[in-house]
Amino acid sequence: MAVKTIIEPFRIKSVEPIRWTTRSQREELLKAAHYNLFLLHAEDVLIDLLTDSGTGAMSTHQWAAVMEGDESYAGSRSFDRFRDSIQDIFGYRHVIPTHQGRAAERILFGVACEKGDVVPNNTHFDTTRANVEFTGAEAVDLVIAEGRQPAARHPFKGNMDVAALEGLIARVGRERVPLVMLTVTNNSGGGQPVSMENARAVSAVCRQHKIPLYFDACRFAENAWFIKLREQGYAERTPKEIAQEMFRLGDGCTMSAKKDGMANIGGFLCTNDDLLAQQEKDLLILTEGYPTYGGLAGRDLEAIAVGVQEALQEDYLRYRIASTAYLGNHIAEAGVPIVQPPGGHAVYIDARGFLPHVPSEKFPGVALACELYLEGGVRSVEIGTLMFAGAAQMDLVRLAIPRRVYTQSHVDYLVEVILEVWKKRESIGGLRLTHEAPFLRHFTAHLKPL
Ligand code: F0G
Repeated sequence: MAVKTIIEPFRIKSVEPIRWTTRSQREELLKAAHYNLFLLHAEDVLIDLLTDSGTGAMSTHQWAAVMEGDESYAGSRSFDRFRDSIQDIFGYRHVIPTHQGRAAERILFGVACEKGDVVPNNTHFDTTRANVEFTGAEAVDLVIAEGRQPAARHPFKGNMDVAALEGLIARVGRERVPLVMLTVTNNSGGGQPVSMENARAVSAVCRQHKIPLYFDACRFAENAWFIKLREQGYAERTPKEIAQEMFRLGDGCTMSAKKDGMANIGGFLCTNDDLLAQQEKDLLILTEGYPTYGGLAGRDLEAIAVGVQEALQEDYLRYRIASTAYLGNHIAEAGVPIVQPPGGHAVYIDARGFLPHVPSEKFPGVALACELYLEGGVRSVEIGTLMFAGAAQMDLVRLAIPRRVYTQSHVDYLVEVILEVWKKRESIGGLRLTHEAPFLRHFTAHLKPL
């Protein structure tokens, strides 16, 4: 088709006002928030790109399903619909609801890991790494080399280095690797997809050593769309068929339904292992709830049952990925260094490239995120030295796009704001930490400009 304008494949039925502030107000607000954007009040943010997690808009079909929620403590109809919808896509025998992704992680690692174990992943997300480490196990990132170079172009920068995985298993021994994880798409590595070919190769190594393979499936639909676009042999397949094929390569998954579940809360844990499922359900009852609700209301289960299917619709995915690419490509054309190519749910600015005069220990990602807020009321998040300390391989600023929330004119505004900050980049300085918590310090840290 000749028409190039990206349009949202929906019309808007309910609107939520957003609020302008002046630059001098934002200077005061940022100071009061100790230069940590997590500590801002959301109403002081104009465009909130802190996360794509739980921030999406639900569809009329989801809201209708919410009304069908069965709030029975045990055996609710809503659980049956939730399980059936998830099994239709993911195919695993046991589906265990949790209140969000990290609860699924805590239960999986709590049951499967021991002190001294090693858990490989392409790149662990922050809560995933923290939950592995909390059990005394070691979280190891094995993404391919291209995945660590922001400017390097590769269609599947989320792929795992299969030789490195084999090397790790040979070095530490199979008994110390309770499971292998693949995060689709690879959030901390730039929202980059994993190819089917790579998932197949990782799966083959796991099966050879009888190690279970789990997917961190948060953005499985976006990953499936990238496979359709970029991997040979998949152009004619539906995103759902692609997702089904990928999940058949594994033994289970953790999922945050706040991403491609299109819900505002929720998650689940799947496995084909009967014994493990029993242990997981026992732990679930202790901390989350009975296995047919797992910390969620019946109406949440309904919203997720509909949402996981909507996330796979082609019109939606086409618009979603095109809109993110539009933002990334427009700022990159003006010279802004970004992780190339743009990811599925987010554009990641390379803060070390943007602010080469600010060394890592002065938090270039935080400095850039603060400046985007001052310039245009835009909230983003640092994924770098503040988040991962010494383990940070890059200093990135993530602009995560909530699903079905902002329009193309919002995206055009974002391009303008980022390019204004790009013009004044030489005047932007670093920060120092004045307070930090013992783990996941980025959520609560206090900083001061140097
Ligand atoms: N795994 C990945 C890859 C994630 O991106 C997240 C959350 C989780 C697990 C945990 O899920 O939040 O439901 O407990 N990522 C959000 C983000 C918070 O902003 O990227 P959760």
